[in-house]
Amino acid sequence: MKIANVGIIGGGLMGREIASAFLRWCALSEATVTPQLLAVADLNPSALNWFGRIASCTQRTTEYRELLKNPEVEVVYVAVPHDQHESIYTDVLAAGKDLLAEKPFGIDLASARRIRDAAKSSGRFVRCSSEMPFFPGAQRAFEAARDGSIGRVLEVVSGFHHSSDLDPTKPANWKRVSAKCGEGGVLNDLGMHACHIPLRLGWRPSRLFAQLQKGYASRPDGKGGAAVCDTWDNAIVHSWVSVNGQEAPLRFEMKRMSPGATNSWFIEILGTEGGVRFSTANPKTLEVFERAKEQWWKRTDLGFTTQFKTVTGGIFEVGFPDVIQQMWAAFLEERAGNLNGRFGCATPDEAVASHEIFAAALVSQRDSAVITL
Ligand SMILES: NC(=O)c1ccc[n+]([C@@H]2O[C@H](COP(=O)([O-])OP(=O)(O)OC[C@H]3O[C@@H](n4cnc5c(N)ncnc54)[C@H](O)[C@@H]3O)[C@@H](O)[C@H]2O)c1
Repeated sequence: MKIANVGIIGGGLMGREIASAFLRWCALSEATVTPQLLAVADLNPSALNWFGRIASCTQRTTEYRELLKNPEVEVVYVAVPHDQHESIYTDVLAAGKDLLAEKPFGIDLASARRIRDAAKSSGRFVRCSSEMPFFPGAQRAFEAARDGSIGRVLEVVSGFHHSSDLDPTKPANWKRVSAKCGEGGVLNDLGMHACHIPLRLGWRPSRLFAQLQKGYASRPDGKGGAAVCDTWDNAIVHSWVSVNGQEAPLRFEMKRMSPGATNSWFIEILGTEGGVRFSTANPKTLEVFERAKEQWWKRTDLGFTTQFKTVTGGIFEVGFPDVIQQMWAAFLEERAGNLNGRFGCATPDEAVASHEIFAAALVSQRDSAVITL
């Protein structure tokens, strides 16, 4: 086992999730590289305190540039608000470190392009975080679409729903403010999750029409007052993609106000010969369509069939922390040249392509028009 020394910038929700995934690395039976967390940077000292429970994480600093000066840190994971993506990502690259960047990879399209260009010219290994395609059901949907067995594609839906914003008493955070989250709002927040598999299949929209909706205009600020919330909360993007030379409708759905949903990532691909459906709302269940004399929807419970094998029993269930770990295994193995045909993390080009969809969706909403990409 080789060791990859990692630093985390942004020790909030995702920084802690990643750190805890590293501590379960012994569960992976096939990985050739083990991440070791050496350092964390966060502006908030109480966020840093949590990392005191990780023995290897000896550098805890409020100044991320100090972390970047640490010569032992080889790989940096950055999970900060979107308005800081570009400056911190490009500083990481300038410091000669490899980067697993959080989505949406810059606050808007222009920023994403500059980050992508900086990544290319730096020669560093850079990928964008998007873990949901690492669910076994998502992988099976990807394979079914790729191997052509579903025939001519009739319709695709790819989406991510949650309902956190339905509660008007939930205090505002930076994700509800365009200046920090970006004008894209929910597109920036959830869009990469919905775009990753279609883009990996080469399904880039040629034109689209978007319907965007805002949430509550004001929320408690958590300090006894009220905060203005101005982001788009729900987005439905109707697009056309070319699949094997034939046009098919692909609908992206990104919602923070989807009644009852909790982090439900889903994909449905329907074709003339077959079809496939998977949702993390039923995380082990794959539905497959077969057309014979009779037409069938069959369902199977997949079990723990992750692409990197683990010590976990084959009949057990896969969850969010598992796919975070699988994504990191893919990142580290690809970086080491050992991905060997497995599904890899979202690339900088795919992140830019997702922003091209978000930018067109914003114009479509503004002008109530179909936009050609
Ligand atoms: N992949 C996923 O499933 C997923 C889920 C949630 C969020 N995200 C992404 O992760 C990123 C962070 O989101 P989060 O939910 O963890 O946010 P968060 O608000 O929980 O955490 C962000 C942390 O960054 C720190 N921070 C801000 N500016 C900093 C700076 N200059 N230097 C050091 N630390 C700084 C904050 O103090 C905070 O602790 C965003 O890009 C978001 O889109 C990804």
